[in-house]
Amino acid sequence: MAIGVFDSGVGGLTVLRALRRELPGRDFIYLGDTARLPYGTKSAASVVRYAEQAADALVARGLSCLVIACNTASAVALDVLRRRYAPLPVVGVIEPGAAAAVAASRSGRIAVIATEGTVNAGAYDAAIRRLRPDARVLSAACALFVALAEEGWTEGEIVELTIRRYLEPLLQAAAPPDVLLLGCTHFPVLAAAIRQAMGQVMGEAMDQGLAIVDSAATTASVVRSELRDATGPAGSRGSVRLLATDGVARFARVGSSFLGEAIVADAVELVDLGR
Ligand code: DGL
Repeated sequence: MAIGVFDSGVGGLTVLRALRRELPGRDFIYLGDTARLPYGTKSAASVVRYAEQAADALVARGLSCLVIACNTASAVALDVLRRRYAPLPVVGVIEPGAAAAVAASRSGRIAVIATEGTVNAGAYDAAIRRLRPDARVLSAACALFVALAEEGWTEGEIVELTIRRYLEPLLQAAAPPDVLLLGCTHFPVLAAAIRQAMGQVMGEAMDQGLAIVDSAATTASVVRSELRDATGPAGSRGSVRLLATDGVARFARVGSSFLGEAIVADAVELVDLGR
């Protein structure tokens, strides 16, 4: 049985990429709910409904594990989906992301950038403080980063100005953070531009070490630990089946750089999840 993975769009392909690296022999089914993207600006009630519909579509295809490769959906729908599909393992990205941030931080000052929905849910604050009660968590919602990433804009002046506009207030705090957690699965494709723009804002403090982390690799190792037979059939490379709820050509074009593998538009199946 395959591992099911979903996100609002192509962002979760950054998690699928890490999963493929960690579990190369396994088969995956990925669903990008592109018709309803972005999730990050929607109400929690809407995101829970979208997450249930996306997950239902995947679970109906037969899964060994479900991965919510979306921070916004993980923040508001993880418990709902765990109850809905028990005993199927359901893995979200918030706890693994918090673990990566705490492991990388010496000072305990951690900046989290995410969607408005994730920030409002306070899920990262709670998850980080569970692991390190004295942590100081600064959060910022960076809604336009999702649009930049979906547009495939990962460098250039507009990208740099947008990053600076969102991050300057966060990074100019009297005691700057030593970790910046990319709390949205769309953001890793902007990591190089974020690093560059932050260097300009932070100057010396950046040189003293500011780690940029995301939840992809730690999520993949949590998924591995959930599976009884993690490797799959020996020697064979597992398959990837891709589904999208709208714009399959666009999904293929933009998604390739997120997945790190070419995606052929004809291979992306269009699915209808209802309203
Ligand atoms: N990639 C998603 C996340 O990790 C959400 C982006 C969006 O749809 O707003 O939060």
